Amino acid sequence: MSNLRAIILAAGKGIRMQSDRPKVLHPVCSKPIIQYVLDIVQDLGVQHIYMVLGHKSREIRNILGKEVTVVIQKKLLGTADAVKITTAHFRNYQGNVLILCGDTPLLNQETIRELIKKHKKTKAVCTFLTAVVGTPKGYGRVVRDESGAVTAIREDRDAKAEEKNIQEINVGVYCFKGSDLFTSLQEIKINPRKKEYYLTDIIQIFIGKGLRVETALAEDPQEALGVNTRVDLALAESVMRRRILKDFMLNGVTIMDPETTYIHADAKIGRDTTIRPFTVIENNVRIGNRCLIGPFCRIRPDTRIGNNVEVGNFTEVSRSRVGDHCFVKHFGFLGDALLGKRVNIGAGVVTANFDGKKKHVTEISDDAFIGSDSILVAPLRIGRAAVTGAGCVVPGKRNVPDYAVVAGVPARLIARRKK
Ligand code: UD1
Ligand code: MG
Repeated sequence: MSNLRAIILAAGKGIRMQSDRPKVLHPVCSKPIIQYVLDIVQDLGVQHIYMVLGHKSREIRNILGKEVTVVIQKKLLGTADAVKITTAHFRNYQGNVLILCGDTPLLNQETIRELIKKHKKTKAVCTFLTAVVGTPKGYGRVVRDESGAVTAIREDRDAKAEEKNIQEINVGVYCFKGSDLFTSLQEIKINPRKKEYYLTDIIQIFIGKGLRVETALAEDPQEALGVNTRVDLALAESVMRRRILKDFMLNGVTIMDPETTYIHADAKIGRDTTIRPFTVIENNVRIGNRCLIGPFCRIRPDTRIGNNVEVGNFTEVSRSRVGDHCFVKHFGFLGDALLGKRVNIGAGVVTANFDGKKKHVTEISDDAFIGSDSILVAPLRIGRAAVTGAGCVVPGKRNVPDYAVVAGVPARLIARRKK
């Protein structure tokens, strides 16, 4: 977006998190909070992104790309001070400035687009995002006069009793005319209670000067959530998880019980696959069409599952490939396993992939039948259409030839199947 630059505020200590880790690096559905905000701003295609960092800035900087200019706030003197220290980067800049807090992972990009649109249309000096929420406690309240026009944002700790009842809150996303922002910023006085400079005080200053301030309402109040405590973090997690699941459902995946299903946003799942309750699907997992996954199943990273596969209860699959039409229906573990097509894995089968130092691969070829309770010690190859008898242990490197039937501990050849 031309003539628009963004500032993301993320220097705060996040004291309320009670954590050694910077607040904005805490993950929501496996992705750091700050990354959500950054993704939105990047997708908007703004001219440039500035990020204000302070507390543990190096840790946060590590996850940022080169396109973000980091500005360090040495003393954490509040949100207005955080913006002020970027002033030098905006000399002679005539465009708009979008400011976001780094701790609001649930914002929708569309909402921000609407905000910017309204800001441009109304030619206001500032348009900020508001939301009407059931529990406004902790947020800045939007104070309006009888005509409904905004007069101020009042921070929670400064709000009078009747102002505390206001349910319309400041989300912490603002679009400013750059020149007006940096001029009026200088006029903000320190808040006597918190001993900080509040960016939100700029609204009253603009109104006092007769300048136009507008608001845009976020339709979904959940978007407003700013993560300040671990209680907020859990709330953000559950909202985001629901959003991710909804996307899968709208793309043709049946999720029997969203309450107990956890799917990573980056996973890919084909049409008409059903995910049964209590299932966890992690990042970099691909599952094909018409599969039945779960209940009580964990599909771990770097796993590929073909079409028409059943992975049943109490099964863990990690860094593995499972070909079309395989059955892995009852409790067991497949780690670093490469399964061909139409493989049947009996109940309780374990690939013993770790020798204490290294992980090894177990290859199980097309049409193999692995009897219940077989232990397959990797590295190992089970041949095409081979059979392992129930309860056998196949030692590492003792490959089972195509069509062989093995049984016992250690497993021995007892027969050959007809081709
Ligand atoms: C802020 C807003 C409040 C709004 C809420 C929305 C102010 C004064 N208040 O309150 O109106 O309802 O967000 O979530 O702005 N930060 C810095 N440097 C500082 C202080 C903060 O960079 O010196 C950053 C923080 O890292 C954070 C953001 O600014 O990402 C907001 O700070 P936070 O302390 O979370 O403000 P809230 O109390 O949530
Ligand atoms: Mg906050």
